[in-house]
Amino acid sequence: TNATLGLYGLGTMGSALALNILDNGYPLHVSNRTDKVVDDFVAEAGPLAEKLTPARSLVAMAQAMEAPRAIILMVPAGRPVDESIAELVPHLEHGDVIVDAGNADFNDTMRRTRELEAQGLAFLGMGVSGGEEGARRGPSIMVGGTEAVWEGLREVIEAIAAKFEGDPCAARLGPDGAGHFVKTVHNGIEYADMQLIAETYGLMRYGRGMAPARIGEVFAGWNKGRLQSYLVEITAEVLAATDRETGAPALDDILDRAGQKGTGRWTVIEALRMGQSASAIEAAVAARSWSAEKPTREAGAVLLGFTRGAVELTDAELEAALLAGRIVAYAQGFRILRAASDEFGWSLDFARVAEIWRAGCIIRSSLLDDISGAFRGDLPEGQLIFAPAFAQMLQQSAPALRKVVAAAALAGHAAPAFSGALAFLDTMSTARGTTDLIQGQRDFFGRHGFERLDGRAGQHGPWWD
Ligand code: 6PG
Repeated sequence: TNATLGLYGLGTMGSALALNILDNGYPLHVSNRTDKVVDDFVAEAGPLAEKLTPARSLVAMAQAMEAPRAIILMVPAGRPVDESIAELVPHLEHGDVIVDAGNADFNDTMRRTRELEAQGLAFLGMGVSGGEEGARRGPSIMVGGTEAVWEGLREVIEAIAAKFEGDPCAARLGPDGAGHFVKTVHNGIEYADMQLIAETYGLMRYGRGMAPARIGEVFAGWNKGRLQSYLVEITAEVLAATDRETGAPALDDILDRAGQKGTGRWTVIEALRMGQSASAIEAAVAARSWSAEKPTREAGAVLLGFTRGAVELTDAELEAALLAGRIVAYAQGFRILRAASDEFGWSLDFARVAEIWRAGCIIRSSLLDDISGAFRGDLPEGQLIFAPAFAQMLQQSAPALRKVVAAAALAGHAAPAFSGALAFLDTMSTARGTTDLIQGQRDFFGRHGFERLDGRAGQHGPWWD
């Protein structure tokens, strides 16, 4: 790259990404809203600090950098990004690029791209996945922007990215918002997979009475098989962990209220807006939202008095159900990507998206190699669930998924993601459904009309005769 690199925002992700850039031999300017963070970072960088130029503010950093500049923003999504851009713009010149490496709403990325391009500047919306460890050692990087800007930064982005058998997990996926959109959907899938795992844990713990450490062992075993993935791997570790002093399961100290910063919700909102519905992802977002209502749930436990009973499910059945749920989560994510690609004319390369998710990111799993293969081959109706390899896996695992949903329902365990995944599969495998009745009702009360099976005209029912 011929650009001078700068990074603003040395929080957890920013400092990890900065060290990664330095590690790869690139000189780097850095700054942060507070000076102490910069000083601490320089100290932490140790020998890597040699190639580091710290600055006291974003503007001071821009002024110290030689043009052309590439300034990476690693600040919280939303207002802070707009504020940083506003501060920077008067100090930039034609040929400079602002890179937003946060979890931005892709609508914002599209707007910022337009606004900056109108001022002769360039913007790159870069989704980065992999948490702190990924940012430090190699994340998966989903880029949106012009070809020219991407080519200018490609070398450094590929250098810092994770590698899957030597292939960098970084790609330009389309213009402006495409990278952040794909990152958002990545997170939607992440939410669904985490929720499916949590539901599985719930059935084992509260339905089978297994201790967390024992459940952790089962997950560790699953991680050697078809469920091999980062999320299953870390779940085993979380379940195994104990309190330093008491030796009790670490989980038992954690309040059962999940936070969310927006990406899961945005996935659902964008899906619905495009006439899609991603039931497993929706269920995961709902589960987090409901979890936040701890007092309501505590009152409900008393006022409704429903109980959670025992379930008879084997490890193998839970493993198969989790596999089926996970396939649906990925499939629904890719359906949203397809809808967005059509709507915005992105021509997204779905196989490439799957490929750059094979290493570095949070949803990396052994399934992704099969998914990229499936997208390179023939997909009946464009559906991942119909690709021969996945149709076969679903046929084998569906009975277990049914059993898990049924057992959970009968014993009073909430399993919204499993239920949502199954409902999707059952709907998509029912040739003649029940919306004929919905259409009849709509026509009855509102003369909405309907299409006829035989193609004949006559769009109103006899109730109007
Ligand atoms: C990743 C993660 C990361 C982060 C998200 C989700 O891909 O590295 O998705 O971006 O965990 O911000 O966070 P919430 O669960 O707080 O919404």
